[in-house]
Amino acid sequence: MNKTRQADLGTPASGTEATVQVEIDGLPATVKAGTSILRAARESGVEIPKLCATDSLKPFGSCRLCLVEIEGRKGYPASCTTPVEAGMKIRTQTDALATLRRNVMELYISDHPLDCLTCSANGDCELQDMAGAVGLRDVRYGFDGENHLDAPVDTSNPYFQFDASKCIVCSRCVRACDEVQGTFALTIEGRGFNSKVSAGISEDFLDSECVSCGACVQACPTATLMEKSIVDHGQPDHAVVTTCAYCGVGCSFQAEMKGDQVVRMTPYKDGQANHGHSCVKGRFAWGYASHRDRVLKPMIRENTSDPWREVGWEEAIQYTAERFKSIQAEYGRKSIGGITSSRCTNEEVYVVQKLVRTAMGNNNVDTCARVCHSPTGYGLNTTLGTSAGTQPFDSVMDADVIVVIGANPTAGHPVFASQMKRRLREGAQLIVVDPREIGLVRSPHIEAAYHLNLLPGTNVPIVNALAHVIVSEGLTDEEYVKERCDLESWESWKTMILRKENSPEEVAKVSGVDAETIRAAARLFGKANNGAIYYGLGVTEHSQGSTMVMGMANLAMATGNIGRSGVGVNPLRGQNNVQGACDMGSFPHELAGYRHISGEEVRTQFERHWGVTIDPEPGFRIPNMFDAACAGEFKGMYIQGEDVAQSDPDTHHVEAALSSMECIVVQDLFLNETAKFAHVFLPGTSFLEKNGTFINAERRINRVRKVMEPQQGKDEWLITQELAQAMGYNMNYASAAEIMDEIAELTPTFANVSFDFLDEVGSVQWPCNDDAPMGTPIMHIGAFVRGKGLFVETDYVPTEERTNRKFPLLLTTGRILSQYNVGAQTRRTDNNVWYGEDLLEVHPSDAEMRGIQDGDMVALASRKGDIALRAKITTRVKPGVVYTTFHNPETGANVVTTEYGDWATDCPEYKVTAVQITPASRRSEWQEEFAARAEKQRRLARPVDST
Ligand code: SF4
Ligand code: SF4
Ligand code: SF4
Ligand code: FES
Repeated sequence: MNKTRQADLGTPASGTEATVQVEIDGLPATVKAGTSILRAARESGVEIPKLCATDSLKPFGSCRLCLVEIEGRKGYPASCTTPVEAGMKIRTQTDALATLRRNVMELYISDHPLDCLTCSANGDCELQDMAGAVGLRDVRYGFDGENHLDAPVDTSNPYFQFDASKCIVCSRCVRACDEVQGTFALTIEGRGFNSKVSAGISEDFLDSECVSCGACVQACPTATLMEKSIVDHGQPDHAVVTTCAYCGVGCSFQAEMKGDQVVRMTPYKDGQANHGHSCVKGRFAWGYASHRDRVLKPMIRENTSDPWREVGWEEAIQYTAERFKSIQAEYGRKSIGGITSSRCTNEEVYVVQKLVRTAMGNNNVDTCARVCHSPTGYGLNTTLGTSAGTQPFDSVMDADVIVVIGANPTAGHPVFASQMKRRLREGAQLIVVDPREIGLVRSPHIEAAYHLNLLPGTNVPIVNALAHVIVSEGLTDEEYVKERCDLESWESWKTMILRKENSPEEVAKVSGVDAETIRAAARLFGKANNGAIYYGLGVTEHSQGSTMVMGMANLAMATGNIGRSGVGVNPLRGQNNVQGACDMGSFPHELAGYRHISGEEVRTQFERHWGVTIDPEPGFRIPNMFDAACAGEFKGMYIQGEDVAQSDPDTHHVEAALSSMECIVVQDLFLNETAKFAHVFLPGTSFLEKNGTFINAERRINRVRKVMEPQQGKDEWLITQELAQAMGYNMNYASAAEIMDEIAELTPTFANVSFDFLDEVGSVQWPCNDDAPMGTPIMHIGAFVRGKGLFVETDYVPTEERTNRKFPLLLTTGRILSQYNVGAQTRRTDNNVWYGEDLLEVHPSDAEMRGIQDGDMVALASRKGDIALRAKITTRVKPGVVYTTFHNPETGANVVTTEYGDWATDCPEYKVTAVQITPASRRSEWQEEFAARAEKQRRLARPVDST
């Protein structure tokens, strides 16, 4: 059997704790009540043959291979569909069973190609294993299964193939697509020997509803559904468990290796965030790590108009240190700073903020969370006392009413979306608050009870109106509030919320959602036993992002929906380590664990440990860095794994700021857009080359493990450490584990965390300390972390960005399933087959009014700038609203976004821009300039090797 195959107990675990005694092949066994005989036997070390059963799916009982005998019962029941009962005496190996099983196998093999030795699944095929297990030698029916053997292979999907000739019609793929993924893309057509798996009527996989999650491939016991990487490279010989480097779900994977080459990523069944499931990005889109565009040698240049010069690590680091030091000598200590990356490990992030606070001697460090979830930190900390979500993902399985606000889980957080869809299919109700008709509003077996398709920028009035109905109709949980919340703030909040402007009727006028829908949604949430709120960047990336976060916390507290399973306020974090990057002290005003830099006690603690004096004044936020750069006061920047030139709003301003600096250092895998303005390029490592930890959206600290050595020859934390040393600060770690030890020592919420502990327990959710030695899955049980929950008044202040005659439409932005953030990783994979360019979604009425047809080029203009892109006519957006993504640098979506941001945190208002669209025949001026600059930088990027 394949060395990397994960254990399969045949059927899912029973949900109960009660146990029963049974006897299996004469030996006593204690198993949980409700367990199938198949699983009970496997748990006791007895392997009953099976084909159609697997422990990620409900038992199906079709293959008849798992038959057993039960004393006192007639016949041969299927062990996968028969639960144990107290006192049951089960026999799994008798002559009669052996004959029956051999007969079953004979039928399967008679309609199966006999090319085991050359089959790509050879050694990892359950059919092959079972034929051996039942001792099949001869097949009496011949090998001419006319229905399957000549079936064509569907290779349309870029990552896996479907070879119908090998299909045994066990239906595991169909059930995986239904039960695990929730897409319902597959069916079994026909009957008996004529039956076959189909991805749609006369459709291949690529053209079907399939979202390429790979659950069917993983479930398939034969070579029918098979990863092309295995077909090309062969079976793996060892595996390392690590964590996906894409979104904030934080799925655990087995990186399956052949030598030092990854040949497959298989979701890890014991992964506590994903339970063995994944999406197309994590499972398949890892080829970027070995893409030819990767830069593997450090490069430097005096001016951005010079060609890059390849140098050794030592020269690059010395050069960087000298340039930073001379800038500080000329312009002052605060003239340089750094940006940490949510894509990097906690350990890599921690050393960058430490470099800034020690070697640079200031607090000019910020993180890319500034531009995504900084309002989450502010809003949840203010109201509840912790800058993080309240629940584990599994909590959704106890929710009765789920509210999704400003998030698109099936695209952004697909594995969690699958879990949520499972709960919705079980009967939970769904309210979606989003300007677009996201996938969850209507999909197979899912229909939102209410879709509040508000106008972008009106989240706050909507949450106020929901609360207005709940308070005015007596749907609040008075007892909960009295016991757990600050009553003075409760009274003043109620007075505010009951004001007429917060009534559904008034809010309908600004939000475009009719009053009755708001009322009905509020009643549904208000009456729920367990109401859970999930939200994304559609909440935070607004001028009132922090207000809205507090509005949701108010709503949850008022209805008693925080502090147990099935409830809570839960940010869905965009990138893999947004939570961790924030936790690590990346903000200019906070040290690790969200402790304000002005606090003398905490500063002293760090000062003693680090041996420096820490500036008590907060440093620059990212937008302040850019403003100061334009003003000539900020001259140097160390940018870890972020592409601000593409991802940050108001591109013209960002480019002006980057152009005016004297030393920009980019540490990344690729020469990204920001690198075009850089003087030093320090090659980074992919997640496959790192040792460390990521923290997902549920505060779960997951291990990231090196599966191969750094391709550019150096750990990323070591690059930062050597830079700190070259600048005169003696940073001195011997490993990433030592960095985590320091984090744990200095951060109370991480006190018990270490690599050894994580290796032992798998993962843990912070706080993890002596009060909570095994971590804290649910926050605020019994009492809020801040003491009493604080209600904060959330008056609606409309954004200054308004539509007018010149710019009558509202642009909102987001992302799609197959691409990720600035696309640096996914654009370098076959995911491009699903989405190769950014499209502009336009409602048919707005398109018709302007003479725009589906697929036409349109000019998209705001008061900040204009771009051209292709239109997609769709009713997913409402009239007056257009939508696009920002995955491709040449599109330049952020050329049109504005300088407005959240009042509390400066998180940019990506979600609201007043625009106009008109038919276009050519690229915009900025796009022309971009193309010219890209070409010039391409020429300069053919480096001179001076090593
Ligand atoms: S494709 Fe694989 S999982 Fe699906 S029915 Fe055929 S053998 Fe079973
Ligand atoms: S890859 Fe996923 S979505 Fe596609 S058919 Fe398989 S299980 Fe369904
Ligand atoms: S859901 Fe997120 S973490 Fe999981 S595989 Fe997909 S991108 Fe990776
Ligand atoms: S494994 Fe039980 S019937 Fe197939």
